[in-house]
Parts: sequence; C-alpha cells; structure tokens
Amino acid sequence: MVMAANSSMFMRPAHEPLVIERAEGPWLYTKDSRRILDAGAGAVVVNIGQGREELAQVAAREMARLNYIVPVWSSAARERLTERLARWTPAGLDRFFFTSGGSEAVEAALKFAIMYQKAKGRPQKHKIISRWFSYHGNTLAALSVGGNLGRRADYEHVLLQWPHIGPPFCYRCPWGKTYPGCGIDCATALEEEIVRQGADSVAAFIAEPMMGATGGAVPPVREYWPKLAEICRRYNILLIADEVMTGFGRTGERFAVDHWKIKPDLLIGGKGLTGGYLPMGMIAVDEKLVEECEQAAADFMFYTYSAHPLACAIADKVLEIMEREHLVERAATLGAQLGAQLKERLSGHPMVGDIRGTGLFWGLEIVRDKGTKVPYAPDLRITSRLVGAALKHGLFVYPTSGMAGAAGGDGVMIAPPFVIGPAEIDYLIGNLHAALDEVHAGI
Ligand SMILES: Cc1ncc(COP(=O)(O)O)c(C=O)c1O
Repeated sequence: MVMAANSSMFMRPAHEPLVIERAEGPWLYTKDSRRILDAGAGAVVVNIGQGREELAQVAAREMARLNYIVPVWSSAARERLTERLARWTPAGLDRFFFTSGGSEAVEAALKFAIMYQKAKGRPQKHKIISRWFSYHGNTLAALSVGGNLGRRADYEHVLLQWPHIGPPFCYRCPWGKTYPGCGIDCATALEEEIVRQGADSVAAFIAEPMMGATGGAVPPVREYWPKLAEICRRYNILLIADEVMTGFGRTGERFAVDHWKIKPDLLIGGKGLTGGYLPMGMIAVDEKLVEECEQAAADFMFYTYSAHPLACAIADKVLEIMEREHLVERAATLGAQLGAQLKERLSGHPMVGDIRGTGLFWGLEIVRDKGTKVPYAPDLRITSRLVGAALKHGLFVYPTSGMAGAAGGDGVMIAPPFVIGPAEIDYLIGNLHAALDEVHAGI
C-alpha cells in the first residue's frame, strides 16, 4: 500500500508522495515496510547517517539543561562548537554567526559583506556578483544571487538587480571552449564584470565552490578558484564561498575550498553541520573583518534562533562523530570507488550525457542526444520520472535541473551518507541503471 502524504502539506513532490516512518544509517523505511536507500542523503544533508542514539541522548540532556537564551549570550554548547569549528574551517575563519538554515546564512553573509564595506568607509561598494547555474537559497536576496532561471522566474520582477557571470562548467562551457587551452575564461569573467560594474561599486562575489543543486555536482578546473581569489583580493572584493552543500566532508575534504587551499573571506555552512539532526546554518568569517566592523561600531542583528543551544550541542556532537569515525576520509575513499563504478557501469547508457563529481558528491546529467548534448524537452519531466522510477526500485536520488539554461536540463545527484559501504554502492548503481532503462523505454 502506498501511503498518501498528509493533505495539509503545502508542497507536494513531483513523484510518488511518501510517508517515512523511521530511518537507520542510509536506509529509509516506509510505514508499509518498504526500504529505500537514501542516495541523496535527503537534500544532501544526512552526512553521518540516520538513527544515531548518541545524538538522541545529547538532545534529551541539553534540552533538560537549557532550551533558549538570547543569541547575544553564549552557552557551554556554543563555546564547545565554536572551538571545534575553528579547527574545521580554514585558518583565520574563526568568528561564527549561526542561523536556522542555509538561506538565512546566505542572507547573513551578504549583509555582512555590505556592512563591512560601509564600516570601511566604502558604502557605495554594495553590489554582489554571483554566477548563473547556482543555488544559494529560497529567500529573496539569496534568490537574487541565485542563478537557476526556473526558480527565479516567478520573482524576477522583484529580485535585486545584481550582476551574474557564467559558471565554470566544462561540459557546457558558456564560452564554447575546451579545457586545457581555454584561458580559464570562466575566472577572467569575474574581473571583466568587476571592471564593467566599477570596482568601487562591488562588495563581494559569492559562489558555490562546486556547482550543486543547479548543475549537479560540478567540480571546476583546478586553476579556477585560486584565480578568483586573486581577482577578489586585487579589487578589495570579499570572496564568499557557499559551502552549504559541499561543506563538512561532502567532497572528500572538510570544505571544498580545501581542495585548492583557498581561504575565502566568508564561508557559509548548513546541511552537514548538523547532518539533519536539527536545522542549523552558519557563516564563518575572517576574524580581522569582524574586528574591523567592531572597531567601526557596526552592529549585526541576530535571528531569534541564532546559535540555539540545542542546535549547537547537536552540531558539536555531529562533528565529533565525524572526527572519531574519520568520515571525511571515508567520503574521499568511498567517493573514489563510487565515481569509478558510476562511470564504468552507467556512462554507456543512452541517456547519460555526463558523470561528474568528487568525494561523495556526484552528478549524472541526462541528455536526449549524447553527441550534441541536447536535453529532453522540459515538459517531458525526465528528472521527476527518473526520481519516481528509482523510488519504485527502492532508491532515492536527489533531483537537479536547469543546467542547460533556457533549454532546461535534467539530472540527479548521487550524494549518499558517508556510512554507506560497497554493498550499498552496488545496490545504488544497479537500481539506478534499472530506473534509467525504464524511463528510456517509456519515452
Ligand atoms: C549551496 C546552497 N546554498 C544555500 C542553500 C539554502 O539552504 P537551505 O535550504 O537550508 O535554506 C542550499 C540548499 O540546497 C544550497 O545548496
């Protein structure tokens, strides 16, 4: 029996609605005892897997001790968390601000950048440059820096008119070039945009270190981020790395910027910070920037639930578990196996245009024609059909779309919890193959 989702739900999935009763590790169980491998870790959230009793105990203890304080005060849990986080984040990024999720954290990062430039006597530096084919969240400023045309469409007329540049997307290079030998135009595009806008009008540049939900796990070429960092420094523009999806081990390093040893001015986190055990987001900011704001008596308003004591206690324990179980290293090792097997077993499929990723962060792009890379017509809803078919095979993969711009684009992300093993990788690929076959046969 398929459980009908509660009719009071505001949003309904494009595929079969499900009621999940319980979960353990990477597995979800429905009320009618169906077992689903969660190869999306939810919305790329559940890095440490589900059902950890240790966290339930922390939650019970912490809630009995302290359930809320105004965020300008601190708590023992918050002190523990910030001490631990300072060891996780790139050196120097050790001032933190906490939120209830990723979008709020993006808003906080944008506001901090604007406030910082004003505190430095440069109030006219207030524009934020971002990229097309990006996702930074659901609130209006986060959507303004976002670059998913479909998600922006209904709100385009009210969004902040900030500039966007093309993404580092070799499979569909916006400049029609091929790496190497392309001159890394995707990075020089930032400098060109800064000059076009006037450097004295730009506060910050924000980007996902690896394209996530719009694009489907696309690592850039290795020269890209060092070049961006150099450009930002040269023009006094803050570099904001949005690691809501890629942070906390997902790409096989603690943060994706660690792949290139880059220190952004601000780093945004969420999702894996608490592994889905509670909602929480954060920004980590260069200490010097915060001190300069403090010297200028600039004030940064909190959210009511900033640094909630229970969320702090859970995040601290989640990170402790990741350290104890070497889960970042595991994501790197298992991710290499997952990537190799995805390529070996799925790249020959007639619908699979590209397989890309790193760590446990992989994307599969679906195309109608592998030679020309032409996507399926959007009204065929290929992504939803594929996610639906996979669910029938006991597998959840995370939908991603929009990577072909106005032409649409379909794909799924494969980003399982770090606690999967070789048997689950085999199950995942076998059932994804079956789902692809079914969708292909039905077109
Ligand atoms: C890179 C990135 N930034 C921000 C967000 C927004 O986070 P949230 O959905 O927690 O508000 C997301 C969500 O997927 C994301 O992937």
